Amino acid sequence: MNARKLCDTARELVADGKGLLAMDESNPTCNKRFARHGIPQTAMARRAYREMIVTTGDLGSCISGAILYDETIRQCLEDGTPFAQAIIDAGMVPGIKVDSGKTDLAGHPGEQITEGLDGLRDRLAEYGRMGARFAKWRAAIPVTEDLPSRGCIEANAQKLAGYAALCQEAGLVPVVEPEVLMDGAHTLERCAEVTQEVLRTVFAHLSLQRVMLEGMILKSNMVLPGLTCPQQEGVDEVADATLRCLLRVVPAAVPGIAFLSGGQTGVLASARLNAMNVRFKGRLPWALSFSFARAIQQPAMEIWGGSDTHVMPAQEALLHRARCNRAARRGEYGAKLESVST
Ligand code: 13P
Repeated sequence: MNARKLCDTARELVADGKGLLAMDESNPTCNKRFARHGIPQTAMARRAYREMIVTTGDLGSCISGAILYDETIRQCLEDGTPFAQAIIDAGMVPGIKVDSGKTDLAGHPGEQITEGLDGLRDRLAEYGRMGARFAKWRAAIPVTEDLPSRGCIEANAQKLAGYAALCQEAGLVPVVEPEVLMDGAHTLERCAEVTQEVLRTVFAHLSLQRVMLEGMILKSNMVLPGLTCPQQEGVDEVADATLRCLLRVVPAAVPGIAFLSGGQTGVLASARLNAMNVRFKGRLPWALSFSFARAIQQPAMEIWGGSDTHVMPAQEALLHRARCNRAARRGEYGAKLESVST
């Protein structure tokens, strides 16, 4: 393990007001999103879509690193450039999703465990040779009146820590993602309570597995009311609740927290990130960044729709959301920016 290299990469991923672009949807998830827009669910279409993304001019001025899926890191642009190289050429760092997805957690109805540790040491070495410098593993934690259980939180935290230790051994920065899900009618307070417990447990396991905090990124949910909760707090309240929670449980040695969007609209995700960076300016030990998939890609995917002739407007839409989020990181986002077409 080269500690200096890990720290440098982790810092690079959250530097200069840039954030991460998650373009690592698994084939089933990507296909589901394609189906909604009538896009063919084929390897060719997924490749073309992702070529549209990485060839967006100037993306590297807003995006520090792009997370790929296994299928994509093995594919090339039409001109033969491997995706990882295309990302490097665009001034971004290539990353790779390495978990193999979720499966039901035995004995825990309604809860799931993320798998993928088997053979991970060898896969990380291979991804490293392909150019990846960071990795991602996502655990999903549901919220109801009774869930999550301690068993689900512990089991997922243990796997996240095992993954993170293997990444650092291989010289890749682990992005550690325990996502507390937005589905449900739970309140903001309940999300805060669960997020706090989950993060405390995750950091306890990271410490047990001797993960170097300076060489990792935390990918967290924001603290939000459930999607069907009748009480939907405003942007500032969400910002305050999220930071109150994170300041209590995320060690200062972590260089950055990159939020997932989790099904929020692009505009709300930017507004909330912006509010956090405005309200807590100069008071946070870590950088507050983004690692969005849907909140950056959604309009672009809709416009692209599987058609070569729509590549340019789709790229404009993608760059627009990337710029909005760069502004949000700096606390400079607002309605005016939303109305400016790029
Ligand atoms: P969303 O921003 O669409 O939630 O995706 C983030 C992600 O990469 C989940 O692992």
